[in-house]
Amino acid sequence: MDFTDEELLRIRPERMASAYMEYRRSGYEFIYRAALDNGVLAELETPLTVAQFVSRHGVVPGKVAVAELLLEALNRCGAVRRVGDQPTRFGAVADYAPPRSIDDELIRLATGKSSYRELGYSGSFGRVVASLTQEERQALSGFDASNADLWDQGMQLPYYRYARMSAVHTLVSTGADLLDLASGTGLGLLELARHANGGSEGRFIGVEVSADFVRVSTERTADEPRTCVVQGNLEQPLVLPGARCFDGAMLVGAYHYLRDSTPMWRSMRRLVRAGGVVCLAMAYFRTGSYDQELVDLRYAQRNPVAHPRTRAQVIAEAGAEGFVLESEFWFGCFGWLAFRRTADQYVSDDMGKTS
Ligand SMILES: C[S@@+](CC[C@H](N)C(=O)[O-])C[C@H]1O[C@@H](n2cnc3c(N)ncnc32)[C@H](O)[C@@H]1O
Repeated sequence: MDFTDEELLRIRPERMASAYMEYRRSGYEFIYRAALDNGVLAELETPLTVAQFVSRHGVVPGKVAVAELLLEALNRCGAVRRVGDQPTRFGAVADYAPPRSIDDELIRLATGKSSYRELGYSGSFGRVVASLTQEERQALSGFDASNADLWDQGMQLPYYRYARMSAVHTLVSTGADLLDLASGTGLGLLELARHANGGSEGRFIGVEVSADFVRVSTERTADEPRTCVVQGNLEQPLVLPGARCFDGAMLVGAYHYLRDSTPMWRSMRRLVRAGGVVCLAMAYFRTGSYDQELVDLRYAQRNPVAHPRTRAQVIAEAGAEGFVLESEFWFGCFGWLAFRRTADQYVSDDMGKTS
């Protein structure tokens, strides 16, 4: 089921958040079934510490952290409970059964699939559990050409597109000169071009670290003369001509890949005009929400490593460079936050100059 951009934008954030959460609930159900099928729950009939479970199950040294995240996820969904706290042991809940059936209508809204059984989750979570005893890494990894189609699929799931489209919507109502930071395979750039106000005005510049994705997105946007993609690493100062000449920027699905966000915010302070906007979308946070353990488990399988932050940390990171939080919505541990650039009298930029 494909939603048009307009259909997506008519959905309220709370409704999409419920759909997203149902999607994660189905993930927990698959994790539970994989744990059952792989004998994990049988082993936990007698409560075990993480170390005891690792030894009993034969978890390989490189997967100890994943095993712990699995136990935390099973605890979150209710199939396992914590017993004691020094050290914590995890015990199977004898009469556990998933509390209610999955709402396929919400799954369709979040993922476009007609039922949660179509999600292909049983395979992927089955592998997460089965591979605890195998050394090789099961990862959707690498932002390179060999994974471009896989990333494309994920970045077109309706709930993810919804977050990106909401950023596009906010940016185009702010102005015509816009940046797509970590622009990936170019989906966001095309959406900016499609929805830009002011007809043929404006320019949409993508910044992307992966040479492969720069190539894929350049090809994808070739028919749209207002777009261009430059290779750049957001962990370093962004070299683009012109100070404060952009109306806004979005960073979708990537804030958590920045080990240090300071260069990015400094670049935004230098490049975005006063009153302009920077939108973070699908940013992985540490919120303690229901989906946290499941998402932590998924990110633990991936490369590059992600760095979830707290809301307070991100507000402080943005605030240090003159950006104030204006609006937000949440899909569990994924935040959507729009920051407005304040007018300041005197700033020094990240290239060491003052203005
Ligand atoms: C999940 S994809 C999101 C792509 C795009 N924003 C979208 O939503 O369609 C994450 C992107 O972040 C890019 N990325 C990760 N670290 C980066 C960095 N330090 N500088 C620039 N891009 C980065 C990756 O190469 C990848 O294209």
